[in-house]
Amino acid sequence: MAITVTVNGREQFLDVEPDTPLLWALRDTLGLTGTKFGCGISACGACTVHVNGRAVRSCTMPVSAAAGAAITTIEGLASEGTLHKVQQAWITHQVPQCGYCQSGMIMAVTALLGQRPNPSDEEIDAGITNICRCGTFVRVRRAIHALAAGEGRA
Ligand code: FES
Ligand code: FES
Repeated sequence: MAITVTVNGREQFLDVEPDTPLLWALRDTLGLTGTKFGCGISACGACTVHVNGRAVRSCTMPVSAAAGAAITTIEGLASEGTLHKVQQAWITHQVPQCGYCQSGMIMAVTALLGQRPNPSDEEIDAGITNICRCGTFVRVRRAIHALAAGEGRA
């Protein structure tokens, strides 16, 4: 069954089983391997993408639930060769260590800042529940506060 989704601004027809997790449709069918697999049970956030602007853990979302939706992955965050301000802040503040969790982390942070442009530490802790085995949480928080203070604003 073909399922139509828009991924990073391009309409895509996915010929996959409806219960295929969105993560695998993105990675295996479309080749968008920037979105990572960590746990497969919606616990770690490595697979976070945006579905209609909301952060979603794609490992447990059936692709059929995303039919007709606009999906953004880490590959679609930069615009015309310019990094998204969250990506730029990740470089400025040297957030990643091994990097494995960071595409999901960046997608989650981007969605959080879209809803709460100046989040408190408590709101960051509540909104960003992604797991980083390298323990980059302090730098994640620092970069979020720098963005909230205006870093990266044109
Ligand atoms: S792989 Fe989806 S939350 Fe861990
Ligand atoms: S940077 Fe290594 S798991 Fe997060």
